[in-house]
Amino acid sequence: MTQSLNNQPWYILGAGAMGCLLASQLARQQQPVKLIVKRASTPSQAIHYQQTDLHFSCKVPVVDHCALHHHINKLIVTTKAYDALPAVQSIAHLLTADAQVILLQNGLGSQQVIANTLPNQQIAVGSVTHGCFLTKPFQVVHAGLGQITIGELSPQLNNAKPRCQFQQFAQLPLNIHWTTTPLTTLWEKVAINGAINGLTALYQCKNGELWQHQGLRQQVIALCLETEAILKQLQIPLSDQLVTLVKRVILQTADNYSSTLQDVKAGKATELSYINGYIIDKAHIMGIDLPHHQWLVRTLKEKGYS
Ligand code: PAF
Repeated sequence: MTQSLNNQPWYILGAGAMGCLLASQLARQQQPVKLIVKRASTPSQAIHYQQTDLHFSCKVPVVDHCALHHHINKLIVTTKAYDALPAVQSIAHLLTADAQVILLQNGLGSQQVIANTLPNQQIAVGSVTHGCFLTKPFQVVHAGLGQITIGELSPQLNNAKPRCQFQQFAQLPLNIHWTTTPLTTLWEKVAINGAINGLTALYQCKNGELWQHQGLRQQVIALCLETEAILKQLQIPLSDQLVTLVKRVILQTADNYSSTLQDVKAGKATELSYINGYIIDKAHIMGIDLPHHQWLVRTLKEKGYS
């Protein structure tokens, strides 16, 4: 990697919890980083990071996306899945032809659509299991240490080792693993979230309650079986039986409110179109009905959650 590329800033699109977590880690490692925001009132912003006893602040330059005119060759997109495409489109003209773009959206579907609009750039997609949230804008709490599994989207570029700037990213102290099969990893997370998130939003319950009540447990299992059948057709392997994986996550996060329930409680749009919606769409293409997933999505829509 040339020194000049090394010194180019990482641009982060999306100043939510994940964007702030990454900006703080990059800044702490002395890697140049800029946050792209909707309305920048100051040229730089203090980001406060907290993880139990460890906390630090760092100053990160912020750029208003309307005022952005520099070329971008290192971009990380941390917006919600439904915001990712318009956000990337708004700065796409600034991306260099050989730019490296990291997409860290939940669910599936948004990544492929963005990749189609950026045929020349190198795209890596990642699945994130870190738990983090903002207490105030730019004040991030790193509540659950997880990992980031990331790899290049194009199968023909599936290198065993990350290239160039991706390698710089992979060195952040966030338990980052490089994979040659990132879509398989994302699918496994979608399959797990597809059996948990929608139900917790519907019944307004903690993750653990899904396994405590027999009626809810049966619904979890029914969703798992439907998803597993689709994954089999698509020849996408899981690391274990889906019910086993889902039960493990439910028990490990028993006291958590899922991200979807948190979105619903905050009156925000959910990412279920990229989770259950994506599973249903894939099944539809194969001419398969998924009555439990379809019922769940329909019922949530009727309640005004989408
Ligand atoms: O979306 C979430 O909230 C999380 O992925 C999970 C695993 C369901 C835990 O709450």
